Amino acid sequence: MPWIKLFDSLAQAQAKIPVRKATAVVVQGQEICVAHTAAGFFAVENSCPHLGDALSRGTTNYLNEIVCPWHSYRFNLATGQECQHRTRPLKRFALEIREDGLYIELPD
Ligand code: FES
Repeated sequence: MPWIKLFDSLAQAQAKIPVRKATAVVVQGQEICVAHTAAGFFAVENSCPHLGDALSRGTTNYLNEIVCPWHSYRFNLATGQECQHRTRPLKRFALEIREDGLYIELPD
């Protein structure tokens, strides 16, 4: 599985995505939501499994969840699970902080 660099350093990632925020990135044609919480950085699919709104437009909370901006479904960023099991879990992507940047692992 290939690892792809998203940011050149952790500081750059922190500057672009402040704590409690999320942003969308497109990596090899896949739109991914990268969220930053008190627990660190997380990467999940950007399209909400409910009706497809962009999770990167949502908010994060103290439970380490991302909250969809449309119907407020809440997804645990560590597990992908929706808090009330109303829809399938989010696809998650591994992130790795290296000396030369923040990397994401994409399935082949
Ligand atoms: S589209 Fe995300 S909760 Fe409905």
